Amino acid sequence: MYPSPNRLPEDTRGRIVDALNARLADGLDLHMQLKVAHWNVKGPHFAALHALFEQMAIGLAAHNDAVAERAVTLGGRAYGTARHVARSSRLDEYPQETTRDLEHVKLLADRIDVYLEHVRDARAVAEKAGDGDTVDLLTQIVTEFEKHGWFLKASLA
Ligand SMILES: [Fe+2]
Repeated sequence: MYPSPNRLPEDTRGRIVDALNARLADGLDLHMQLKVAHWNVKGPHFAALHALFEQMAIGLAAHNDAVAERAVTLGGRAYGTARHVARSSRLDEYPQETTRDLEHVKLLADRIDVYLEHVRDARAVAEKAGDGDTVDLLTQIVTEFEKHGWFLKASLA
């Protein structure tokens, strides 16, 4: 661990950094999966979903950057190569042969549920550690991706 402007003890910061890196791996994986869906989606809902998946990916890229920079701010490192992500992500691999619009919606909705579950767990780690700033950062992700999950599930209803 490196020195940090944050006042929490080093071992506490280390626990938060580990939780952030785990969520960074999931977030980078989900970002790539969203792009695969954005590129390959076909069907009557193409126009809306092509744009929606891109908008979700852009938002997630900003969150991933914030998560990585929070880990480094707290005195850790940020891990994010493709090989690291492939080893570490908690998400299921994306079936890249998928083309149908609503099939992509279902696949992404499932993955967002898993992503959110783990982001909430990471937020609980930060909350227990008294790191309100990391809690705020993760709450922004939860709020935005719960909304995306609602959009996707509404498309399937
Ligand atoms: Fe594009």
